[in-house]
Amino acid sequence: MLRHLTERTWANTIVFFTFIITLSCFSRYISTFIFFGSYATSLYFYLSLTSNAVSEERKLDNLGKRAPSIPSYAPWGLDILFRALYAFTQWRNHEFWYYAFSQNKNANNQWTVEAMTLGQRLTFTADEENIKAILATKFQDYGKGPQFRKEWKDFLGLSIFTTDGEMWHNSRMLLRPQFIKDRVSDLHTFETHVQKLLPLLAGSHNGATVRVDDLFYRFTLDAATDFLFGGSVNSLEDSQADFAEAFTEVQRTQATIARAGPLQHFVPKKSFYKALDTLNAFVGRFIDQALQLSPEELEKTTKSDEGFTFLHALASYTRDREVLRDQLVATLLAGRDTTAVTLSWLFYELSNHPEVVQKLQQEITTSVGLNREPTYDDLKNMRYLQHTLNEVLRLYPVVPYNVRVALNDTTLPRGGGKDGTEPIAITKDTPVGYSTLILHRREDIYPSPSATFKHHLEFSPERWENWTPKSWTYIPFNGGPRICIGQQFALTEMAYTVVRILQRFERVESRDEEFPMFRSDIVLQPAKGVKVAFVGRT
Ligand code: HEM
Repeated sequence: MLRHLTERTWANTIVFFTFIITLSCFSRYISTFIFFGSYATSLYFYLSLTSNAVSEERKLDNLGKRAPSIPSYAPWGLDILFRALYAFTQWRNHEFWYYAFSQNKNANNQWTVEAMTLGQRLTFTADEENIKAILATKFQDYGKGPQFRKEWKDFLGLSIFTTDGEMWHNSRMLLRPQFIKDRVSDLHTFETHVQKLLPLLAGSHNGATVRVDDLFYRFTLDAATDFLFGGSVNSLEDSQADFAEAFTEVQRTQATIARAGPLQHFVPKKSFYKALDTLNAFVGRFIDQALQLSPEELEKTTKSDEGFTFLHALASYTRDREVLRDQLVATLLAGRDTTAVTLSWLFYELSNHPEVVQKLQQEITTSVGLNREPTYDDLKNMRYLQHTLNEVLRLYPVVPYNVRVALNDTTLPRGGGKDGTEPIAITKDTPVGYSTLILHRREDIYPSPSATFKHHLEFSPERWENWTPKSWTYIPFNGGPRICIGQQFALTEMAYTVVRILQRFERVESRDEEFPMFRSDIVLQPAKGVKVAFVGRT
């Protein structure tokens, strides 16, 4: 306990004594009242900080063990913060995480560490047992927490993304029926927007270079707004569409707010609120139209295949404008970037693996030919295509870094004690960061490379033919009660898009000069974009 207490309090102690010594040196120049007033106030703060630290350390000792710490050589762990921020600005977040885990010298289990920064204890993990506890076995003990809700309130309100406990459960119940098989197997919306996407992929001439990530962002926005509201923003036709720009701006500032921590009040928010107005006006128009329908009319529309929209279905459960707005915007956020970045990474890999493109084309030709629109069942039966999607989500999991906060005093099952096998103490409000990217790229969870299993960092859909990941070591959609609700929608949209593109084009050629780098604002984006050329059939 003494070591951890010293870690927590040494900087405060130095500041306190420096202040007292300075105060004493200048005592003759200041009034006795100010002297004793300052002395008493600083003593009060110092003692209360120290006493809080002592009781926190006692609580931790009673709860369990500690994980190895990331060493810090500057007051309040500022060097750790600086290192993390620097890595973030250089698109090298993963290097910070690898550095953090390299500080754990425990041969049994190096995948959990902790750090103290600005008086706050943080835990980082890429250990599947700890992630399983956070997301499933100790689900009641970990959540998004009040701070997250506060930071995201303007954008996402009290929606499925921001809430815990009963409020989250109610949101989940409200949204769940909209993702049943009957709904996600309706491929009509995807076809409409794929037809707008294909000529843009072709570019100005056969083999022209295109920024495929940009086009996928616009494509998934168009498809998602169509599915959710029954009206698309059509950003593929008009790249300057107000809504698309506003949505991007809101996300950009939101990511900054979320990362700024205590400095978030200094983040300029004028353009954020302006963009939020544009977004709300767009969503509001559709909500007004839906609410003009009587409950009977809504039910009729919801039951018919053509008239169905996500919004109409929700409006037949609740007529609360705010609830509708928040859930729709949250689903739009969840549904748009996720599929856009996965398709971008996929085409980055395909452009570097012509043999995979060839195999996909063989499968497409045998299953549906080069013209017919695939059905939901066709897509599910294309094994190589499903393996390709699994593989891209293994190497590029959409949410690379995530965080949960302890909602009460609890533990993580392992990583503590001398040999790293004992439970780690976690007190209420402690954030636990977990990384799916690091987990998916851990060498020790894979078989050794062989003729049938390429090195784990290589893109190889074939590895899925005879291999199943160990439990909780492959979690691109998370796991437990909060598992991605849109998983089937996403897999169907992406499979459909890949099939339609590879029916139209024979080859995908890379035009990138180097690896696009990992940008991880909220989702894992290719930082430098993905440039490819689509070569059509002659
Ligand atoms: C490649 C595509 C996708 C991936 C990899 C993905 C992954 C994830 C992950 C990791 C989470 C958990 C986030 C957290 O709790 O911190 C999540 C939650 C969620 N996803 Fe997805 N997602 C994808 C596409 C979609 C789509 C297309 C939709 C809807 C149209 C969607 C809707 C949601 C919703 C509503 C949640 C919140 C669930 C809850 O908290 O109960 N996702 N997704």
